[in-house]
Amino acid sequence: MSTLQPAWTNAEGADLATALFAETFGSAPAGVWASPGRVNLIGEHTDYNGGLCLPIALPHRTFAALSPRSDDVVRVVSDLAPQAVWAGTLDDVRPGGDLPGWVTYAAGPAWALRDAGMTVHGFDAAFASCVPLGSGLSSSAAIECAAALGLDEVYDLGLATDDDGRARLAALCVRSENLVSGAPTGGLDQAASLRTSAGQALLLDCRDGHTEPVPFDLAAEGLALLVVDTKAPHALVDGQYAARRASCEAAAATLGIPTLREITDLDAALAQLDDPVARQRVRHVVTEIARVEEFVALVRAGRLRDVGPLMIASHESLRVDYEVTVPELDTVVSAAMAAGALGARMTGGGFGGSAIALIEASQVEATVQAVHDAFAERGFGEPAFLVAVAADAGRRVA
Ligand code: GLA
Repeated sequence: MSTLQPAWTNAEGADLATALFAETFGSAPAGVWASPGRVNLIGEHTDYNGGLCLPIALPHRTFAALSPRSDDVVRVVSDLAPQAVWAGTLDDVRPGGDLPGWVTYAAGPAWALRDAGMTVHGFDAAFASCVPLGSGLSSSAAIECAAALGLDEVYDLGLATDDDGRARLAALCVRSENLVSGAPTGGLDQAASLRTSAGQALLLDCRDGHTEPVPFDLAAEGLALLVVDTKAPHALVDGQYAARRASCEAAAATLGIPTLREITDLDAALAQLDDPVARQRVRHVVTEIARVEEFVALVRAGRLRDVGPLMIASHESLRVDYEVTVPELDTVVSAAMAAGALGARMTGGGFGGSAIALIEASQVEATVQAVHDAFAERGFGEPAFLVAVAADAGRRVA
């Protein structure tokens, strides 16, 4: 039977990253920066359509112990990858560079900062993380943002000190993920990692980058948010994600609008699209943006207990119209609902990854058991579980 995956405290994470740094590079780091993974409460596959999302930061973070260098050498090591040091120069870190995947996340932000005209030299960095890897909980963005926060401070760029600067830092991490890592993702994950606050969800408007905090105190309502990592194979670079994004962009072009966010009359838009698949994709995006607005309105009205049907509608739309769920994700939703959850849905990009269930705080164990049993019955591998609370954005921790 699974136990809940705990988040490291800042002291634990900082100690692990510092020890790995010292063991690898033989000195103490200049500092340690930590940045979180996320769950998105609702608003999926809307970010690259100029839409709305509603993430919270997880207490689970990636810790980067980092020191600047006077030359252009880059050396990175991680507890996530086979414990080999990757060493190269800043020139090796670029779009089309032949780098291991995790190195593109760890070092790519340095390329994006330099490409934006900022002065960044080489660095040594050691990464330690308790964000479950490849789980759809933004383990990649957590690495990028931890590295970017460290570089921002040791190279005195001053971006992390206010929200405008953090928005800029997030955008540069997205640019790195798109161009150096080759994953055509939107801005949800990096905004969640860099622009959230404890106890709040982040209403992110991807049309203009505007954000608003939405108080999200589950404990006060006697509720809990259970996250289930299905462990089903999950990858955003395998073409499926890119295909979804491309069909949205093609539909927007057909409709003569910059993004699907501009659709004000869904039926009229659907009538202009001949391709039935394009119609499905557009219907998901437009209805999902509306669900984010309804979800936020309910939470702000103190009606957190009423958001369940919106979560279910979101999951159904992602299953039927957007076609990004897998049987494991659908099973989490059905098992959690049968066990009495208020709502449940996949979170993140889909194609594997994680699902969330909004449940009574007293029902964590029973829901874990129900999902565990449902997975065993269907012959799926053992999932992993954690309980999410809205945590703080990334920052220096040592
Ligand atoms: C992944 C991407 C995000 C976003 C989600 C789906 O997590 O990295 O940019 O598109 O999928 O909402």
